[in-house]
Amino acid sequence: MNIGILGAGHIGATAAGLFAQAGHSVAISNSQGPASLSSLVTSSEAHIKAVTAEEAVRFGDIILIAIPWVKRDTLPDAQLFENKIVIDAMNAYGPNGPVDLGESTSSEMVSWQLPGARLVKAFNTMYFETLRTASRPAGPDRLALFIAGDDTEAKDEVARLIEEIGFAAVDTGFLHDGGRLQQPGSPIFNVAMTIEEAGKRLSDLK
Ligand SMILES: NC(=O)c1ccc[n+]([C@@H]2O[C@H](COP(=O)([O-])OP(=O)(O)OC[C@H]3O[C@@H](n4cnc5c(N)ncnc54)[C@H](OP(=O)(O)O)[C@@H]3O)[C@@H](O)[C@H]2O)c1
Repeated sequence: MNIGILGAGHIGATAAGLFAQAGHSVAISNSQGPASLSSLVTSSEAHIKAVTAEEAVRFGDIILIAIPWVKRDTLPDAQLFENKIVIDAMNAYGPNGPVDLGESTSSEMVSWQLPGARLVKAFNTMYFETLRTASRPAGPDRLALFIAGDDTEAKDEVARLIEEIGFAAVDTGFLHDGGRLQQPGSPIFNVAMTIEEAGKRLSDLK
């Protein structure tokens, strides 16, 4: 599969390595342009190409958005995302910490910004070092990576990708309620846990 990544920082670069090692073709971008990513692409053991943000969106069957929330207005034109599976890894942090979005949730706001995208919220709750180091063979020890979204088929594709890179996809539900569970401050945010522990925590929250 072709995967385009927006953001080449902690999460974007880590996910790029994992996706490429799993056999996918990966194009990664940042805000400064592909030339600034030469050390990232040459140091990677797997093949990853550096592109512009717009090229990353055109390239990907799946797009991972891993840029700061406050930079979301700099995303490429919404039309380019139409019918693409878009993973939103962003958490709503401003300069003074988590931003209070009231009744809305951050990934719903992204879905309003990119109305044609098949949005799945994922990769939000796990610290990048855990993502980088805790991949495990299939089994009960695998750590949970949460997904939420309103497009079931898109969610299934993202779940498959998560399993391929050595984590267990755990569905928290639709974008509104399930997405809220993955936001900063939630009891499942930034806690490394197995599928069993994740299931217990989620049922405690019901
Ligand atoms: N760090 C974590 O452990 C973690 C875990 C889960 C979720 N998250 C979320 O994931 C997102 C990224 O976090 P991070 O820690 O990876 O951030 P980071 O290390 O600061 O990296 C951000 C990246 O986004 C790039 N960027 C900014 N605007 C862009 C645009 N319009 N198009 C393409 N790239 C753009 C930056 O490029 P330049 O450097 O060229 O500006 C940089 O490569 C945040 O929303 C964060 O809340 C982080």
